Parts: sequence; structure tokens; C-alpha cells
Amino acid sequence: MLLRKAYFALLSFSLCILMHLTASEHCSKLENASTVLQTNRAQFLSIADGAEKFGLELFTEISSLAGDNDFVFSPFSVWALLLLLVEAASQNTLHELNTALHLNVEPKVLRQAFNVVQQFLLRKTPTIQVESLQAMYYDTYEKVTDDYKATLTTCYNARVQNLNFSDTQTSLNFINNAINTETKGLIKDAFDEYVVEGTKLLLTSTLYFKGQWQSPFNKSETRTETFYDMNGKPVGEVEMMFQMTPFNYTRMVELQAHVLELPYGNENRLCMLAILPNKGISVNQVVHNLQKIGVRPIFNKLEEDDLAFGEQEVEVYLPRFETTVTLPLRGSLEKLGIKSIFNPKTVDLDALANSLYVKDVMQSTKIIVNEEGTEAAAVTAAILANKISPPKFYFNRPFLYLIAEKGSNMLLFAGQISSPTLPQKN
Ligand SMILES: *[C@@H]1O[C@H](CO)[C@@H](O)[C@H](O)[C@H]1NC(C)=O
Ligand SMILES: *[C@@H]1O[C@H](CO)[C@@H](O)[C@H](O)[C@H]1NC(C)=O
Ligand SMILES: *[C@@H]1O[C@H](CO)[C@@H](O)[C@H](O)[C@H]1NC(C)=O
Ligand SMILES: *[C@@H]1O[C@H](CO)[C@@H](O)[C@H](O)[C@H]1NC(C)=O
Repeated sequence: MLLRKAYFALLSFSLCILMHLTASEHCSKLENASTVLQTNRAQFLSIADGAEKFGLELFTEISSLAGDNDFVFSPFSVWALLLLLVEAASQNTLHELNTALHLNVEPKVLRQAFNVVQQFLLRKTPTIQVESLQAMYYDTYEKVTDDYKATLTTCYNARVQNLNFSDTQTSLNFINNAINTETKGLIKDAFDEYVVEGTKLLLTSTLYFKGQWQSPFNKSETRTETFYDMNGKPVGEVEMMFQMTPFNYTRMVELQAHVLELPYGNENRLCMLAILPNKGISVNQVVHNLQKIGVRPIFNKLEEDDLAFGEQEVEVYLPRFETTVTLPLRGSLEKLGIKSIFNPKTVDLDALANSLYVKDVMQSTKIIVNEEGTEAAAVTAAILANKISPPKFYFNRPFLYLIAEKGSNMLLFAGQISSPTLPQKN
């Protein structure tokens, strides 16, 4: 039951990860997941619950910003990244993170929980692959505490790498190559120079998922068909896949939607829940409902209906799709109460370095759904800069200038430079 519960919470992260476990004085020796779960059951449940709640709250925020645009994001990747900041935070900064993540445990328990979660999620079988990696890239000239480095490497199995950020192109290539490798080529150029400019430290959390449908769609059944908006107005054409198979499905009144469970692989652990709003109900409304009820009642209902009616053949028409997005998450996280990490005046990440604050948190995600299954990857990054990072004025493109007298506001000269010529040498 407990495993089941942890599994529910994990599913709500949408997808998932990989890591080997190490022990050190920072983390108590890691036991296997079922042993740890037995001893710390209640606390793990509360962490998993919190992660699920946080994920659904963020889903609601992002969904209401997205309007009619497709998007995809990885709640798990954001959660894993924020745990790295929890490890760095104290005072009000920590309080805000704990509140938003619904966390109320000792660091030791959190680290154990993270490892247990990973033991559940990370896998590599012929039909399912889940990998995740956390990393910290910091500037050679930045003082990061040894304690924090040790916590990341030993308790989160994170890569800790120092780079010369003044050499922007080389650091950028290094980081982008690492993310490209970790996401198996799905996310090629995660960051541009703008991100590295003025950055002193980057925390990243990548997630890669590849799953074959337990029951694949037959390519020869795929047809071009019309896709409609919620009012029945045609909005375009899609490649509609089809199969008729016994799947679990249910109608959820509280959700105002129908739910179909499409399993991956053969273990009955990972699945896609495809949720179709009732006629006239918007996807946004359903996301709100989902936030209220959580994921567990859906699995319970699917199981109940399965027991009551048995698996029945279902005709499934699902479009092939592919979504690639980069989401700035700062605004959404602030809405969830995580504010002070973004403010140089109030931030407290002293356990990491006392000179840094978080400039932004962003996530790039890509998902591909086709007849064979699903491949998806995400990278979430926290971009940390110096609190007193001097702004850079680089006048290497057209600019204006005024020469003025401050007491009288007299403009003595006003000019523009757009095609400067070298001064004549005498
Ligand atoms: C974990 O511990 C349980 C019970 O203590 C045991 O049955 C199981 O084989 C262990 N699993 C691994 C992977 O060591
Ligand atoms: C870092 O890169 C800058 C710019 O390329 C270079 O001037 C500086 O010497 C480098 N520092 C180190 C420690 O390598
Ligand atoms: C796919 O559908 C075609 C046409 O209905 C059929 O001939 C073929 O055997 C099917 N392939 C599989 C793998 O089921
Ligand atoms: C339906 O759900 C039950 C309970 O979780 C599970 O044992 C069964 O494998 C599921 N069936 C399918 C076709 O996914």
C-alpha cells in the first residue's frame, strides 16, 4: 500500500529519473527502499504528498498562463531542483521553500526520501528507461562552501563542476553538451549566452523518459483527421492513431472528465493518464479540479472500475504529437510563495554561498508521442548571479547620448552613434 502510494505521487510528477547511491557522513548509509520506507513511513508519505500537491499547483499556474497554447513541463524536475535549493537555504528563504513544497522534515529524512524516490523511478529495461541527473556548475572565482558541494555529490549524486564563466562560449558548450547527453539528444541547446552572462552558478536537474506502450498503436491504422477546439470549431489536422484494446478507463465526476490509462512497458508502474474533459469543459477547468482532488483518487477509481467491470475493449483515437517548450518559472514560483530567493536583499542561501541569489528558474522540455510510445526530456535550471553583480553596458550597437547640465536640465548636446568611424590618427 505504501509503495503504491509513493508510486501515485511519483506519477503525478508526470515522468521521471537515474542514479547510483553512495553513502557518506553527510547521508546516513542508504538502505534499500522498502527497509527505509518501513522505518520512516509517515514522513515519506508526507514528502510524497507535498511533492504531488506542489506539482499540481504549479500545473494550475502554468496552465492558466498557457491559455490555448500547448505546453508540457516536468513537475519532478522542478521539485528535484528545488530540493537542491532547500539544502542551501535558511531563515525565511527556507521557510518559503518548505511551505511551497509542503515539506516539514529534517534534511536527513529529505535526502533519504529523495533516494527512495529515485529507487522507484529510475530504471532501464528494454521497454522503459527513466534517468535523472542533478548538477551544479559554478564559476572558478565563486566561493561555494565545501559542505554544500559534499551534500550534493554524496546525498544527491550530483555532478559538481567548476567552469570559467568569463570564458562564456566554452562554459556554455560544456553545459549544453552535458544536458544534450543526459537528455539523449532531445534538448540540444538548452541555454544561450544570455543565460550565462553574469551568471556565477547554475543548478540543473535533468530528466529523461522513454517508454514503449504496453500495447502499441498500429501505424497502418493512423489517419489524417481534423482536430477541434472545445467549442467544436476545427483548428487543424492531426495524424490520428487508433487501436481497440482492453484498457482501464473511468469517468470522474469531480474532474469533469474521462480518464484513460495507457500503460508503458510490462511492469504496470508507469502509464500515461489521458484526460478528456467533458463536452463544454475547458482543459484549464479540469486542471483546477485535478489540483483539488489529486492523482490518487483517479487511480483508485480506475482500479475500482477495473474490479467492478473488468477490462473492456476501448476504441482509442489519440493524435501523434510533439511539444517543445521553454518555460520561465520565476513568476509561477513567486505565485506559489517562493519569493525571497529571487530578491538579492532578502535571499538566504548562505549554506551554498553568501554572495548569490537566484536570477531565474527555467525549464526546457520536449515530448514526442507516437505509435511506439513516448520519449520526453526536461531540464530545469536555477540561474544564480552575484547579489552585487555589476550591470554591464556594452555600447557595441547603435546608441544615443545627451550632454546635459543637471541644475538647469539644459541639453548641451544630443547625438546618436550608429556607424562610428575610427578617429583619424594624427
Ligand atoms: C530490501 O529489503 C527487503 C526486506 O528487508 C528484502 O526483501 C529485499 O530483497 C531487499 N531488496 C534489495 C534490492 O536489496
Ligand atoms: C578565464 O577566462 C578568461 C577569458 O577567456 C581568461 O582571461 C582567464 O585567464 C581565465 N581564467 C582562468 C583561471 O583560467
Ligand atoms: C496492422 O494493421 C494491418 C491492417 O489492418 C494488419 O494487416 C497488420 O497485421 C497489423 N499489424 C499488427 C502488428 O497488428
Ligand atoms: C488496470 O488496473 C489494474 C489495477 O491497477 C491493473 O492491475 C491492470 O493491469 C490494469 N489494466 C490495464 C490494461 O492497464
